[in-house]
Amino acid sequence: MVAATGGAAAVKTPFVLRRLREAGHEVRAAATDDAYRFVTPLSLSLAAGGEVLDRESWFETHGRALHLEWAAWADLLLVAPATADALASAAHGHGHDVVSALVLAGPGCVAWAPAMNGEMWANRAVQRNVEQLLGDGHAILGPAQGGMAALSESGGPGRMLEPEELVERLPELFLARDFEERTILVSAGPTREYLDPVRFLSNPSSGRMGYAVAAAAKARGARVELVSGPTTLPAPAGVEVVPVTTAQEMYDAIRERFAGCDALVMTAAVADWRSANPSGRKEPKSGERLTLELARTPDILESLAAHKGRQVVVGFAMETEEGVARAVEKARRKKLDFICLNYPTREGSAFGGEENEITVVTPAGSTEPLPRMPKRELAHIILDRVAGLLSDPS
Ligand code: C5P
Repeated sequence: MVAATGGAAAVKTPFVLRRLREAGHEVRAAATDDAYRFVTPLSLSLAAGGEVLDRESWFETHGRALHLEWAAWADLLLVAPATADALASAAHGHGHDVVSALVLAGPGCVAWAPAMNGEMWANRAVQRNVEQLLGDGHAILGPAQGGMAALSESGGPGRMLEPEELVERLPELFLARDFEERTILVSAGPTREYLDPVRFLSNPSSGRMGYAVAAAAKARGARVELVSGPTTLPAPAGVEVVPVTTAQEMYDAIRERFAGCDALVMTAAVADWRSANPSGRKEPKSGERLTLELARTPDILESLAAHKGRQVVVGFAMETEEGVARAVEKARRKKLDFICLNYPTREGSAFGGEENEITVVTPAGSTEPLPRMPKRELAHIILDRVAGLLSDPS
């Protein structure tokens, strides 16, 4: 069942219904009064192929409690769009309108697709309510960054996920919660090594792979800490993000948290070199050449090898040649349980894109090439392996 509450993104609710029907699901629609300020009853009922549960139908049921009947019918209630007020009502157990009453009636699974201005989404009260709903076992899908009806000063996330993405994400709500009680530490993104206050050495890592692993682990019930270099990605709901800039800062953040985690998935593209003598002022450009003296950054995974206890540790290796041999060597030297090898120069692999193509390599030298797939799906495959190793460390 899809329920619309009163945000501008309610114009997209009929598309969510249509996509779900196209994917072969039976659907029903519900709407609050305020949703009808943005979408008409007729467009919702046409898209759903049936009557809409709204204030009018709710109170004209001749002795039947429709919110209870409909909640019992639904495997999933997706509230899209979900306003700050709808989240607050559910977090506090209110049942004053048809959508909050549906949530209280307890459908199998409840997911929220927040849609609001970026400042509102960032507000502590909203985040508190989101935490509460996650704690109650609800799912939060999005929000995304991007243009919205109401301008956002911060440009932060707040936009409802597109109908296609919402529908794509629904299967993850029915995942096993096999990481309950587990703490997963993830690193993501590039690091920046400053030469002077404005120039730095870095790489094109977008952070997408690590953010996908963090979101997938959260969806499977883990407590997730995400140590992230500079990226433009919004924090996955319920994931604690520890922002860092340099390799040294990432090293400190990971070292501090490693003992308390069950698994570390190190997707970050840590810069290997930093300036040996960074300048405190912007150096004026002069001459046609400049020689930089570089010093190695700390190797985070290698430094952890000596401290590794029961944790499962996963690394990533980017190679342009001799991939497998180098990956095996790294997995051994860094005491990894396995390493995900990818080829940054191949199309559709690694840096930046939504997809990745990896080969899983173990320190014993076994290799398993995986097909190219969305990073979101790949994250689950990596976590399936981590779950296997956690439950059977032998
Ligand atoms: O750079 P390299 O190919 O050795 O990276 C392999 C793995 O080691 C990656 O998981 C990366 O995050 C990690 N790494 C690290 N510290 C570095 C460089 C890489 O932990 N300084």
